[in-house]
Amino acid sequence: MKDVRTGTRSQWQRKRVFIRTYGCQMNVYDSDRMADVLRPLGYALSETPEQADLVVLNTCHIRERASEKVYSELGRLRDLKSERRRDGADLTIAVAGCVAQAEGEEIIQRQPAVDIVVGPQAYHRLPELLARVARQSDERRFDGRRRPGAGVLDTDFPVESKFDHLPAPSEADVRAGSAFLSIQEGCDKFCTFCVVPYTRGAEYSRPATAVLREARSLVAAGAAELTLLGQNVNAYHGEAAPSSIGGSTWGLARLIREIAGIDGLARIRYTTSHPRDMDDDLIAAHGDVPQLMPYLHLPVQSGSDRILEAMNRGHGRDHYRRLVDRLRGIRPDLALSSDFIVGFPGESDADFDDTMRLVDEIGFASAYTFKYSRRPGTPGAGLGDQLADGVKAARLAALQSQLGRQQRDFNASKVGAVVPVLFAEAGRKSGQILGKSPWLQSVYVEGSADMIGSIVNVRLLAAYALSLAGEVVTGEGPSRLEVAA
Ligand code: 5AD
Ligand code: SF4
Repeated sequence: MKDVRTGTRSQWQRKRVFIRTYGCQMNVYDSDRMADVLRPLGYALSETPEQADLVVLNTCHIRERASEKVYSELGRLRDLKSERRRDGADLTIAVAGCVAQAEGEEIIQRQPAVDIVVGPQAYHRLPELLARVARQSDERRFDGRRRPGAGVLDTDFPVESKFDHLPAPSEADVRAGSAFLSIQEGCDKFCTFCVVPYTRGAEYSRPATAVLREARSLVAAGAAELTLLGQNVNAYHGEAAPSSIGGSTWGLARLIREIAGIDGLARIRYTTSHPRDMDDDLIAAHGDVPQLMPYLHLPVQSGSDRILEAMNRGHGRDHYRRLVDRLRGIRPDLALSSDFIVGFPGESDADFDDTMRLVDEIGFASAYTFKYSRRPGTPGAGLGDQLADGVKAARLAALQSQLGRQQRDFNASKVGAVVPVLFAEAGRKSGQILGKSPWLQSVYVEGSADMIGSIVNVRLLAAYALSLAGEVVTGEGPSRLEVAA
């Protein structure tokens, strides 16, 4: 029913959607896009499943634990749905993301309370899928039966249609001055441990014109920082913008230089990159594009040549070391971060020692560490010499403690510096606010909520394992200008 005065549905009549996001930043971006698709259908965001008419789980399939979490959450949602039905109401349950893509129909068989399974390339068809569920639900009300295979499934590719059909991001997609922008999806690298080439499909780069349009509208909507996203983001080779000279495609560096020209944009980041795709122009951009933040997530996975080869990474430890030397030659304050997998099949003590030595040699500002997880369908799953969990756990602990020391040392090295911080949220204690330094460190200060979304100069006073404490530099007053630290 329409509100007579405004012509819109009044608040209490609106439908609500709760979206739970698992996994990487690509999924965070996709969840926002799903919210954008659902908004015109009258769906407002809900904070909890209990208040929602529709629950979407945007899932991650990268490690076994991530997938299993989805099924336990679905068990809880099934109970909630049964309660609703006892009260004569209903709850629609949708599974999106990489588990949806990888397991499809199996999800509905394992958890029949699921109404919709939608793969990452089909989010623009959510309205149609919801309409089909609504039709089924009307039929059920009519004859009281749930038909076999009542859930609806859409896991179709190709990826390019996804971006063509999704609504453009809006102000709602800028959070505290920061926004994600997906420029590339899928991957052709086929690392032997990884499901991404199967769940997200072949590498696809969005045309530069579409990316630039979206970048401009996000900055106009208040973004001071853009993070360019892709599963293999530095493999970007999008169709060139029409007016450009030389070449029919742009690489990531060219795109970054163009985006850096957008007025009001202070910070550019990109993730996740592959060591094989750091071309000369991208390395140079780290030296000559001031908006490009001095922080690079460059996963190496292992420090052993033998394991890197078995992982099909396409480079050895020396390539990584030389690359880091070149980057630091151009941008001496560049902070590096990486992903590591311990316990890949066949990893010996000597291989693991090579990883520990590489960590020593490079010095990381932060890192994500994982025990190898055997993923069905990947080449790694079929390899012999799968390691015992105890071995993986011991190696993980040793690696984490070394990386933790490096992170603390890195944080301590910044104490005394005045650095620009983009404030993102309220801190844990009242009167505190929390933001990010150029090196993606969490920094908290005494400050007021109206600074959230702004970049303000902060003197760093104390360093901890995962954060730094600082004070706002007074005198100059808060500034949206990014200054070199
Ligand atoms: N087991 C453990 N970690 C994995 N990753 C990807 N696949 C697996 C797996 N099968 C890690 C890699 C990757 C990150 C996103 O997740 O380190 O860079
Ligand atoms: Fe997976 Fe990254 Fe390897 Fe692609 S490059 S297969 S996304 S780990």
